[in-house]
Amino acid sequence: MRYVLITGAGDGVGKATAKLLKNEKLLLVDRDENNLKNVAKSLHAEYFICDVSNIENLDKLKSYVETNFSKLDTIINCAGVWTKGELSQLSEAHFAEINKLSKIKDLLDTNTFGTIAVITSLSPTLLKNSKGQIINVNSQSGVETEEFCPVYNASKHGSYYYRKAIQRDLAQHNIKITDVCPGLIKTNFYIRNNDELSEDIMKLGLTAEEVAKTIKYVFDMPHEITIPSIEVRHIKNY
Ligand SMILES: NC(=O)c1ccc[n+]([C@@H]2O[C@H](COP(=O)([O-])OP(=O)(O)OC[C@H]3O[C@@H](n4cnc5c(N)ncnc54)[C@H](OP(=O)(O)O)[C@@H]3O)[C@@H](O)[C@H]2O)c1
Repeated sequence: MRYVLITGAGDGVGKATAKLLKNEKLLLVDRDENNLKNVAKSLHAEYFICDVSNIENLDKLKSYVETNFSKLDTIINCAGVWTKGELSQLSEAHFAEINKLSKIKDLLDTNTFGTIAVITSLSPTLLKNSKGQIINVNSQSGVETEEFCPVYNASKHGSYYYRKAIQRDLAQHNIKITDVCPGLIKTNFYIRNNDELSEDIMKLGLTAEEVAKTIKYVFDMPHEITIPSIEVRHIKNY
């Protein structure tokens, strides 16, 4: 049995991944208390409420893991938020609202800082256990230039290049790390973040369960095989 911490486990890909890995020892993390409690209850899993963009919360998570989940061997980073809008569109009220500087900062704090911070806070435990795996749910936006969502694009490139920069160091300490980079996924991600995609566009998405299966594929690889990054998309989204 493996000891797996999943962020963003209250909904979407994180929740679907938790369901697929229900036979492992799980520590589920999210900032949405209600959703998280429901998911944890349904899977008889441990949970910890934490906003990965908040340093105090992260310090508490680190202490909790060291005391109560010290056999941690796998971190799956799913927590993420969304915004879109080209700079030239910001004269439109909707785009101006969802790209307020405070919202841009919040997005970078979750998608880039949050991913880096969870890894930085919890890697001492992985290193102590002398074996580990980290899987970041990145995005098509982490590997391509997407002009319609420059802030999100930058946030995902940030964590993608952070992963590349730590890959060798971690490998030398028997810890492997993968960016799973999905295209569109049919979750509440867009609605939750004040965007609404048309039904026609949403039809081109993967389900959260399909992305979770990709994560499990990476998770199930023999430890000596490492997959630095993997892209996954619905065939019609090409
Ligand atoms: N959906 C897509 O089309 C798509 C495509 C490619 C990649 N991705 C990436 O896939 C990952 C999962 O997305 P999803 O579609 O499953 O999203 P989702 O359905 O919105 O689920 C994300 C979960 O993470 C939580 N969360 C957000 N920010 C957090 C924070 N700072 N600290 C702790 N929890 C936080 C959310 O809670 P709140 O309700 O509080 O926000 C929510 O429960 C994200 O990293 C996203 O960037 C998504």
